[in-house]
Amino acid sequence: MRIVAAAVAIALLGLAGSAFAAGEGASLRSMDPDYSKETLREGARSFANNCLGCHSLSRFRYRNLVDDLGMTKQEVEQDLMKGTVSINDHMESSMTEEQARDWFGAAAPDLSLVSRVRGPSWIYSMLLGFHRDSDSATGWNNRVFPQAAMPNVLYNLTPEAPGYYDSVPPPGHGEGSGADNGELPEVPEGLDAEVRELVSFLAYASDPSVVARRSLGPWVLGFLALLGLLTYLVKREYWRDVH
Ligand code: HEC
Repeated sequence: MRIVAAAVAIALLGLAGSAFAAGEGASLRSMDPDYSKETLREGARSFANNCLGCHSLSRFRYRNLVDDLGMTKQEVEQDLMKGTVSINDHMESSMTEEQARDWFGAAAPDLSLVSRVRGPSWIYSMLLGFHRDSDSATGWNNRVFPQAAMPNVLYNLTPEAPGYYDSVPPPGHGEGSGADNGELPEVPEGLDAEVRELVSFLAYASDPSVVARRSLGPWVLGFLALLGLLTYLVKREYWRDVH
């Protein structure tokens, strides 16, 4: 009985934990990263173009894009690396913390581990959570990350983005019904794909070995299946004479 009670308590703690992680009351849109190399390559390009101006990935080297994702050195150098960095360098923003504080009132945090800390669904919901707010310095607020100093740099990410962001309601709207997305507007396909690429890339960047592990998985399973078959054949051979 005690064991059951302990199990229930642990399960409840887990639930409480995840509710807390969801944070600040806004419901999250759920999202699983897509670790296909194609998606991750697109995400890396998008990150370099739209985010690297402010955010670093100080634990992630450009070289990973060649080693893990099969990009060529030339592609990485031409499309992603800005200025004087070498392919062995980490992806560092050229904006200093001081500049960030001066311009935005907050440092743009390093995003190396953000996917582990916040989770992909939080980042996905946050990037899609900007809504108009005339009281804020940037003109935007965020349902998932209230009073965030980050401007809505996704507004011009795709042609559908302005229409979407202009229709995101402030928090409290459509919530309390229990339905996850309540009255949140549907995310247009093109914008959804771009944001998924970005979040998938951040998830991969926080744990680059995920790509190698995934491509190894089928081989390991295949090997185990073959081993199982051989073991069975050997067993049959041994037992044939016994019966
Ligand atoms: C103009 C500068 C700027 C750009 C460009 C920018 N951000 Fe930000 N971002 C910020 C600032 C500043 C914060 C900190 C906000 C705060 O703490 O109030 C932030 C916070 C975040 C956070 C929350 C981190 C945390 O855990 O607290 C995430 C995730 C994020 N940005 C992702 C992105 C992505 C993805 C892009 C590219 C699409 C991007 N940002 C582009 C300035 C920027």
